[in-house]
Amino acid sequence: MKNQVVINADIEKTTINKNIYGHFAEHLGRGIYEGIWVGEDSPIPNTNGIRNDVLEALKKLNIPVLRWPGGCFADEYHWKDGIGPRENRKRMINTHWGGVIENNHFGTHEFMMLCEMLETEPYICGNVGSGTVQEMSEWVEYMTFDGESPMANWRRENGRDEPWRLTYFGVGNENWGCGGNMRPEYYADLYRRYQTYVRNYGDNRIYKIAGGANVDDYNWTEVLMKNAHRMMDGLSLHYYTIPGEFWTGKGSATDFPDSEWFITLKKALHMNTLITKHSTIMDKYDPEKRVGLIIDEWGTWFDPEPGTNPGFLYQQNTIRDALVAGIHFNIFHAHADRVQMANIAQTINVLQAMILTEGEKMLLTPTYHVFEMFKVHHDATLLSVESSFEKYELDGDDLPQVTVSASKDADGKIHISLCNLDHQNQSDIDIDLRGMDVSSANVSGRILTADKMDAHNTFERPENVKPAEFTNVNNEGHSLSVTLPPMSVVVLAVE
Ligand code: AHR
Repeated sequence: MKNQVVINADIEKTTINKNIYGHFAEHLGRGIYEGIWVGEDSPIPNTNGIRNDVLEALKKLNIPVLRWPGGCFADEYHWKDGIGPRENRKRMINTHWGGVIENNHFGTHEFMMLCEMLETEPYICGNVGSGTVQEMSEWVEYMTFDGESPMANWRRENGRDEPWRLTYFGVGNENWGCGGNMRPEYYADLYRRYQTYVRNYGDNRIYKIAGGANVDDYNWTEVLMKNAHRMMDGLSLHYYTIPGEFWTGKGSATDFPDSEWFITLKKALHMNTLITKHSTIMDKYDPEKRVGLIIDEWGTWFDPEPGTNPGFLYQQNTIRDALVAGIHFNIFHAHADRVQMANIAQTINVLQAMILTEGEKMLLTPTYHVFEMFKVHHDATLLSVESSFEKYELDGDDLPQVTVSASKDADGKIHISLCNLDHQNQSDIDIDLRGMDVSSANVSGRILTADKMDAHNTFERPENVKPAEFTNVNNEGHSLSVTLPPMSVVVLAVE
């Protein structure tokens, strides 16, 4: 059987919110410090303390939204420690991540400056676990109030006259765990209380995100929706792709057998089940789908790179991670009516990163390239897709060999993203594009692939895995005939 895809180019569904391509950067390991912030006096070329190479690379991704400062760090972060002259800022212990000194040199002003440089929307996560209502309320006042007020005046004293625009605010993180070990009933009440004081000043309108469930904790979603859905704009969900077990061995990022390739992709596909089930609960209370499902932490989580601080969560990134990213995006697209934002964990040097650095060196990971290739779907219109794929089988288990999604951009160009999960076999696909005349269409494509499951980029060979032109596509008049090599991510453009 040949793989079949039917794309109904004239059946337009919802808009793919570009925020699905959002990021997350926590005060964790070398994510912020070294990865982004090197300080103005660093020998590493920088602009106002932010390293130039990373800045330039991130700009090319058109990052729509960036979540900060955590993660678990958010619920022990006290924002007032991170403003004012840097030499006077409090030094604290990052108890959650490696027990290292946090000098608070990267604080609110530095984060907002980074967002301005990247032209990205800030998404700030407030502290519910160990912070007060007053502290959270004053942070919002500090950032967004235009008039005369203690916090706005303080912001001006610290060098920022105009308020910042702040759209996204999270009321706590993982409050079922590192954010306070709460029961959902208790957190739902706290959420109601804290969010009351997250004010809209002037014309700044805040999209409030409630801390959501861990993986398949459907009761958490039920309780939050039942008790607080009218007071939230978004509800989060966290799910990491871990081939092994969280506490006893997650699996290596680079040294893995076929079976771990397979299980990793199977677990990535599980995101579809999770979104479907959490959305079904949300539908009960919010059939209009006003409240967004915000997947503000996702990605691979492997054992830390041997020889590194285990609290820094540094891992390499292979073509397997690229497939995981592509699989997630195709799933997020399919649920674009409910999934309004997603934030990969995490941008630099932590977990499934876009960029790895070592001192002044920097490399782009296979995941970076998938984000860059899929930019064409930002704010595009999702198209109706029907498909039937061969099985990708291993050790008596099976997965669909391919995942797919398609969208139409503002210029009418159609983009089709395809992932061949199979580590051994190519995939031959017929793509029937209904509702448009394909015979005269121009078709082009880009591919990310490798000939080894663990192919990755190193500081010595930074371009080992990178996108190339894709030519294995024939326009047969009424349809496209495509051959995907094993382990590949392809994006086609039809115009
Ligand atoms: O991304 C790493 C950690 O994973 C985050 O701090 C936390 O929210 C989650 O458990």
